[in-house]
Amino acid sequence: NTDVRESMYLVSEFAKKYFSDVLVNSEEGKAIGLSYFKERGFTNETIKKFALGYSPETWDAFTKEALGKGYKMEFLESTGLTIAREDRPFDRFKGRVMFPIQSMSGRVLGFGGRILTNDKKAAKYLNSPESEIYHKSKVLYGIYQAKQSIAKLNNCFLVEGYTDVIQFNQAGIENVVASSGTALTPDQIRLINRLTRNITVLFDGDAAGLRASIRGIDLILEEGMNVRVCAFPDGEDPDSFARKTSYEDLVAYLENNAKDFIQFKASLLMNEAKNDPIKKADLIRDMVASISKIPDRIQREIYIQECSRIMDISEQVLTSTLAQLVQKDI
Ligand code: CTP
Ligand code: MN
Ligand code: MN
Ligand code: MN
Ligand code: MN
Repeated sequence: NTDVRESMYLVSEFAKKYFSDVLVNSEEGKAIGLSYFKERGFTNETIKKFALGYSPETWDAFTKEALGKGYKMEFLESTGLTIAREDRPFDRFKGRVMFPIQSMSGRVLGFGGRILTNDKKAAKYLNSPESEIYHKSKVLYGIYQAKQSIAKLNNCFLVEGYTDVIQFNQAGIENVVASSGTALTPDQIRLINRLTRNITVLFDGDAAGLRASIRGIDLILEEGMNVRVCAFPDGEDPDSFARKTSYEDLVAYLENNAKDFIQFKASLLMNEAKNDPIKKADLIRDMVASISKIPDRIQREIYIQECSRIMDISEQVLTSTLAQLVQKDI
């Protein structure tokens, strides 16, 4: 329903403005939210660019303000900004710093809110619930700020988190978007595909990041796009890495460490058991399985040649393995 969605967009836009106003103009916002962002190294310009905000600790400060401005409870609830409770509705994001999630055209679709402590028991990020306007499997954080740069540079860096996107922007790299903690989806990849066919995956330097990169590779290949992967040192994510690296060194790191998916998978083996024939065989099968996802036959052939060269195994064997996986078309 278009009217419903329109009302939800209006409430969300109001919330974005409210949270960013609270961040920079209220005592609580400055003392808690702004100083948190400053501690993470975000400049005023960056805070403005991403419309970062702060939601007061008070039970229903935002809800009251919105109702007072004439926004309807119905839409505060359907956007998830207010959690309904018969006796006393309350602000979903109270006491969190706020990251508005925008569409390609800049509409506010939802929010991520981060707690300020490192309390391991509480969820670090809270996100808007699925709604008529927010489908988390279809959005990419940062796409609004990144779209021009992605098209111009004909490449998109794909990271995991809000702060990775923001820190890269501040470092001078704007062609970056985040899947925001969901497993990457075909819809998200197609969104990037409207701007470029080239994706460089930059996931966190931990076990979860590695698993996510490996899953992402096949999905990107299935869309017929080119994928490169750049790993970060253990325990680093793009945010923490960019923060302690100059622009020149960051660009150099990305250039020197981004590998195509065959090289990336090969390097995983090097780290493990170079001389273990069973592991090597598993890895080769895994590479061929990735190659089988590529829709274009000529591209598949090129990667078979590369795989053959890098893994030192005949193209013939690889091609027949591939044929089993790609029944049609060969
Ligand atoms: N995420 C989430 N809910 C959580 C944890 C993570 O939605 N409880 C999403 C967020 O979008 C987050 C992303 O997954 O940005 C990556 O998670 P993680 O690497 O744990 O967080 P960082 O982005 O590194 O956050 P920070 O640097 O603030 O700790
Ligand atoms: Mn919809
Ligand atoms: Mn992580
Ligand atoms: Mn991270
Ligand atoms: Mn981080």
